[in-house]
Amino acid sequence: MADPLIVVGIIAGALFLFLLRSRRSSSRRGLPLPPGPKPLPFLGNLLHIPQDYPWVKYREWAEQYGDVVGLQLPGGQLFVILHSQQAAIDLLDKRSATYSDRQKSLVIDLIGWGWNTPFLPYGEEWRRTRQASWRHFTPKVISKHHPLLLQEARRFLRLLKAEPHRLRELMEFSFAAIILKAMYGIEITPEEPKHVSLLHEALEATEGFMAGSFLVEHIPVLQYVPAWVPGAGFQKKFARWRRLITDVLNLPFADAKQAWLRGEGYQSAVHEMLEDISQADLSEEQVADEERVAKVGAANTYVAGADTTFSTLLSFFMAMAMYPEVQRKAQAELDAVVGPNRLPEHGDRESLPYVNAVCKEALRWQNVLPLGVVHRSMADDEYNGYFLPEGSLFLTNAWAILHDPKTFPNPDVFLPERYLKDGVPNPDTLDASDVVFGYGRRICLGRHLSDASLFINVASVLHVFKITPPLDANGKPKKVEAKMSSGFLSYPSGFECAIEPRSPSAEALLRE
Ligand code: HEM
Repeated sequence: MADPLIVVGIIAGALFLFLLRSRRSSSRRGLPLPPGPKPLPFLGNLLHIPQDYPWVKYREWAEQYGDVVGLQLPGGQLFVILHSQQAAIDLLDKRSATYSDRQKSLVIDLIGWGWNTPFLPYGEEWRRTRQASWRHFTPKVISKHHPLLLQEARRFLRLLKAEPHRLRELMEFSFAAIILKAMYGIEITPEEPKHVSLLHEALEATEGFMAGSFLVEHIPVLQYVPAWVPGAGFQKKFARWRRLITDVLNLPFADAKQAWLRGEGYQSAVHEMLEDISQADLSEEQVADEERVAKVGAANTYVAGADTTFSTLLSFFMAMAMYPEVQRKAQAELDAVVGPNRLPEHGDRESLPYVNAVCKEALRWQNVLPLGVVHRSMADDEYNGYFLPEGSLFLTNAWAILHDPKTFPNPDVFLPERYLKDGVPNPDTLDASDVVFGYGRRICLGRHLSDASLFINVASVLHVFKITPPLDANGKPKKVEAKMSSGFLSYPSGFECAIEPRSPSAEALLRE
């Protein structure tokens, strides 16, 4: 039976919101709202939103109602899910002056994550913190990170050779190491992986971002219910996440600042920012404010950057264990271009179209953010005959776009060939990077770093390792199935593979 507290909370909160907010008229400007499942009184479609793999249900609705599906949240807020690249570009990209806000989230504030750039409302604070990190990842400066990416990819190969069964941990370590060094100048080792577990524990909090995950988001009065009351277990979770998130913001920055004050360490983004601040003619108050912006600019890449590329590379390993033919083709290309006596470098990229196609397919096949990040509109608008009131929320079902059989025939198959025509990139295929990194002014600022890091890892791993399904107790290959977790971030779940050097020359390269 439902918890009485939750039932009372739902009714009281929904009624309150319902009375407080003006009801959205479905005929403002004489246009209807986008169609979707019939909302319930007070609760709207809240109870229709599935907790698990919501993107699958949303696609079913799109088949029934069309590419632009409209739901209602308690209080009448419109929640639109876009199911085509055209609609996402038309609204989030071409009309980005209207669609670049984020929804204020009570859960995000309660867990202390309101400072993070991806969640900030459109405005000056967002612009400043985004700029603080973006200037280190623009296409012009991205090559300055290549030596670090190469060094970490090679350390990853060595660690993986020694302990192939620790694939996930080693990969987590590797991506955290890149961001920690590039942003903070902090060098970590597998023996002393400082800050890595802190980050991964804090990322548990992304559970709170899925629409409908916590009732308190829609019924704010529940925030005042003490943790001991049955049904208020979320309070304990929130307290733990608050501690972790505060540490993520403060601890790596404090380490970086100490090293900078001592004149030590790698010339990282934080070092550069502190240097700039120290040289500008600023009051004490302004210095504190600039340092705060630098701290957020660094931490936003740490929390947004580490797990996203991680999940994509893990999907790549899963694909290689399932599609040996793809692996062989990529390795043949590497053998021809790079040869047996050295490891791949970024400079080889142009000559490796098939390996590049493998990277694109890894981004598409099992995408890490199936629903992207929610945008909020800042003005009334119309689209395809529908009325879109100011303050509506917009998600793009990236998973559905990337698995639309009209755009990607046999969408569940890992097929790099779909990106090639006569051995060169096929301009007619929708590039997965135009979908997975989002849209408009809020587009992912780490996309060039992620792209460079995915390429060098995929090329390096394929050059030296053979990835196969693991063997069962009878020595027979186990079946590998493409399973992903459900959540704001989606990861390959419960998958194993065997990894071993693919030739004597690969062994020799790994020893070097
Ligand atoms: C495969 C890897 C990655 C994927 C798929 C990915 C995807 C995304 C998506 C979908 C968004 C939201 C865009 C929107 O609102 O339309 C986003 C935002 C963001 N990403 Fe990434 N990302 C990846 C890697 C990275 C990396 C490596 C970094 C940092 C170095 C990073 C930093 C950010 C930040 C700070 C934002 C917030 C931007 C804003 O709100 O203005 N991401 N990313």
